[in-house]
Amino acid sequence: MRRKISDLLSLIEKVTSNPQYNLLGVRGGKLTYFAWEGGKRKLIFWDGREDKLLATDVAGASMGMGNRVAYTMDTAQGKELHRVYLAEEDKVTPINSRPMRVWSIVVGDGVAFVGSSEKTFLYVVEGTEAKEVTELAPTSQVTDFKGQMLTGFELKGNSSHLFFHDLANGETRRYTPREGSMNSGPVLHDGAAYFQSNFEGENKVYNLDLSSGELTKVLEGDASYFLSIQQGKLVAIGQRNGRSRLYVNGNRIPTPEGTLLGALLDGDDVYFNYSSISTPATIMRLRGGQVEVVRGGTRLELGEVQFNRVKSFDGLEIPTYIVTPKERRGTVVYVHGGPWGEVSDTYTPLIASLALAGYKVVAPNFRGSTGYGDTFMMLDVGDVGGGDLRDVVEVRKTLQEDVCIVGYSYGGYMTLMALGKYPEMWKCGFAGAPVTDWEEMRSMSDSSFKGFIDILLRGDRELMRDRSPISYAEKVKAPLCIVTGQNDSRTPLRPILNYVNKLNESGKSFEFHVIPGAGHIPYDQEKLNKVLLPMLLFLEEALGN
Ligand code: 4NP
Repeated sequence: MRRKISDLLSLIEKVTSNPQYNLLGVRGGKLTYFAWEGGKRKLIFWDGREDKLLATDVAGASMGMGNRVAYTMDTAQGKELHRVYLAEEDKVTPINSRPMRVWSIVVGDGVAFVGSSEKTFLYVVEGTEAKEVTELAPTSQVTDFKGQMLTGFELKGNSSHLFFHDLANGETRRYTPREGSMNSGPVLHDGAAYFQSNFEGENKVYNLDLSSGELTKVLEGDASYFLSIQQGKLVAIGQRNGRSRLYVNGNRIPTPEGTLLGALLDGDDVYFNYSSISTPATIMRLRGGQVEVVRGGTRLELGEVQFNRVKSFDGLEIPTYIVTPKERRGTVVYVHGGPWGEVSDTYTPLIASLALAGYKVVAPNFRGSTGYGDTFMMLDVGDVGGGDLRDVVEVRKTLQEDVCIVGYSYGGYMTLMALGKYPEMWKCGFAGAPVTDWEEMRSMSDSSFKGFIDILLRGDRELMRDRSPISYAEKVKAPLCIVTGQNDSRTPLRPILNYVNKLNESGKSFEFHVIPGAGHIPYDQEKLNKVLLPMLLFLEEALGN
């Protein structure tokens, strides 16, 4: 029996109206936090008695020091031309800068951010002005600001090095322990930098003395780390098999099974942002050995969650999350975005709505995924839509039943590649905001995405054509649904229109939805509904009996 649209919509609304919370700053029990509430992205300050709404339609935010938090707003309806704001308790200060794509902001002894338009620069906030400090590689992040010293990392080719910019003399030093290694997430403390590196194979955390250059290993055993220094202590979130562990100065702090999206110290309290596949982002506090929920915590019953490893064509093990709902209506392979991303034990509206709708969700962390070390992540550099796609195919082969493939962004790209290169394997495909043509997309990109595409495809035009779905549109067999935002500036509309034209000219069965006023990420509930409803209606038809 096919379900009615109203049934599917109410099921989606269970997902899209479910609140999510992330703590960004805390001091003395006063909280600055991000809230997805009533389907809107908000920034809220809790003064200990009541919530004060600081902003709605927040595009991104970064962890602050104490109660100072920086955030961005999009000035261009999804095109991601950001302006930067500072929130200090309930006071909000807009920063003067040209709207541009802002990937990372740091709040330390000062405020700095990395912004991209034609080029990528490091900016420092002085009063209410953003001052250009130095040019960085297109794909860079700033991660700490102590005294006059700024640090972060820059990606170049197949490696990533740290940078240290000293505002006192305007000099930028670059550091890598070994050419070709990946180094990231540096934070500053006592004349030294803590960072993670894979220069000895696995990711480990090191301490680099900035005056002597001495390097000491600090932490190992997890696949990747997120670091910060708080109250003079090293706070590390380690990620392994899609789940997180929290360490303060190397000591493990007990947290529930799932992922930690951030952790903040406030005196003796430890706050953390928790999520699992079934639990939307929730603020929790560890106080006197007891874990309490501060905001959120509404679990959805999505079904049984399993973590498997599937051997791929060359023996590489592909970590795979599987969610099996109680009442099953079909199976989908879900391909995550990125490619530098992962399906971890974290709530996502896409997986949640698929599982709630009764689909078994099989989600491979193909080579190139994050969370399994930088060596694994770099395996798809120069080979996007190659080995990673074969990993997805190998995982599909472990399933006997009809399977649809579903993905968003890079996952949408993989969906189109899978339908074009392995047309017999899929009952249908759903692609949100897909990459369809690397070359054309590159020509429309800003510095950060040009740089990213050049890293992923090594600037090789031939490879770009060979790995673009538009080259295989004529081979697609299964019914296909594409949904995309009109104002998307990461995977822009024009190359998608070209792909759709090609489908049309070769007489394929497809549907195509453009969401007006939407960018790459369908931020609010209304926009998200416009992605999820076509998806579920399409799957209902393709997999329904
Ligand atoms: P996403 O997909 O990271 O999953 O959002 C991509 C979007 C843009 C590019 C690559 C992947 N790009 O290189 O421009």
